[in-house]
Amino acid sequence: MSTHSTTAAPGSPAAPSTLITGIGSLVTNDTAHGTGPLGLLTDAAVVIDAGTVVWVGPAGAAPAADERFDAGGRALLPGFVDSHAHLVFAGDRTAEFNARMSGQAYSAGGIRTTVAATRAATDAELDANLARFVREALHQGTTTVECKSGYGLTVKDEARALRIAAGHTPETTYLGAHVVAPEFADDPAGYVDLVTGEMLDACAPFARWVDVFCENGAFDGDQARAVLTAGVARGLTPRVHANQLSYGPGVQLAVELGAASADHCTHLTDEDVAALAGSATVATLLPGAEFSTRAAYPDARRLLAAGATVALSTDCNPGSSFTSSMAFCIAVAVREMGMTPDEAVHAATAGGARALRRPDVGLIAPGARADLLLLDAPSHVHLAYRPGVPLTAAVWRAGVREL
Ligand code: NIG
Ligand code: FE
Repeated sequence: MSTHSTTAAPGSPAAPSTLITGIGSLVTNDTAHGTGPLGLLTDAAVVIDAGTVVWVGPAGAAPAADERFDAGGRALLPGFVDSHAHLVFAGDRTAEFNARMSGQAYSAGGIRTTVAATRAATDAELDANLARFVREALHQGTTTVECKSGYGLTVKDEARALRIAAGHTPETTYLGAHVVAPEFADDPAGYVDLVTGEMLDACAPFARWVDVFCENGAFDGDQARAVLTAGVARGLTPRVHANQLSYGPGVQLAVELGAASADHCTHLTDEDVAALAGSATVATLLPGAEFSTRAAYPDARRLLAAGATVALSTDCNPGSSFTSSMAFCIAVAVREMGMTPDEAVHAATAGGARALRRPDVGLIAPGARADLLLLDAPSHVHLAYRPGVPLTAAVWRAGVREL
């Protein structure tokens, strides 16, 4: 298992191991450890050591550890894995949101407003904004976050976005193909050449993934294919903004190219659903976007019934979904998208981990990174049952108690 766990520096005293006991309800996402798809255990305990989970089981059988934390009967689950976010930007789009709530439609073109603000910001401002959002998410239980570029759209600005993002997360995504840069408004083919050439060369060292917004007003299927295959040739793995605002080729392209995820999946034909279900490409649903654009939600039930793997993420960005709350996304997915609370919690943890191809996060099992969320509630179901209520009692990231 590949892990990103922390270990004590040479010469420093080893971090103490911790026994977390008195867990009323434990979501392991490991069917070997508990019941149902969530691998649920009651009256459970977990031992973490050197940033890693080392033991999971009934509280009565737990081994000793250096320190002890009493969960007081509350629920413990894996930290949320937010596999889709756009966090390197400056400014906001309050006026655009306000206009939308007065009846205006959302379009991809709004991205250019944030591009102008982002280009005008200093490195320090962008870094501070990103740090603030990562912290904001952490305080709500998110211990892994993916971060895309896409508000620079020049070689220099895309590369700096990814360099800054890489200082905060290993899950960095090159999204030079977010929209055609304003300078190339009359030459979209020229912009695709830049994105697949010089810009890719500058960005690839800081990126793990390559993404494209395949949509009317952004990039068509042929352009998206060119972007993704160029990224693959540079060692990046694809993920796709697919079928968000309309039906289109994005999902089929994602599946054909073996993308880790097809994201949004709001407008799907039966063929799209079948393609996702028959593939390893995760369908990542982003209910914050439909909420904030007052659009119809994707039908999660249809995807789950077909056998597709579903992830839930925030899509946090200043245009279409300015929330960092995975709990909010869970509540909306349950209320509006046909998911059960168990399915939504699974999608926000194990589903996100699948979408990022990270076997070390999104579960609580020996060998997993010690990313843990303790709720001020007796059950994970409260994430949907008590919408809008802050339920974070404690968070550990790689074994470090963050709050
Ligand atoms: O995922 N769809 C493309 N990108 C973002 C929106 C970005 C913006 O409007 O600034 C999204 O919804
Ligand atoms: Fe997005």
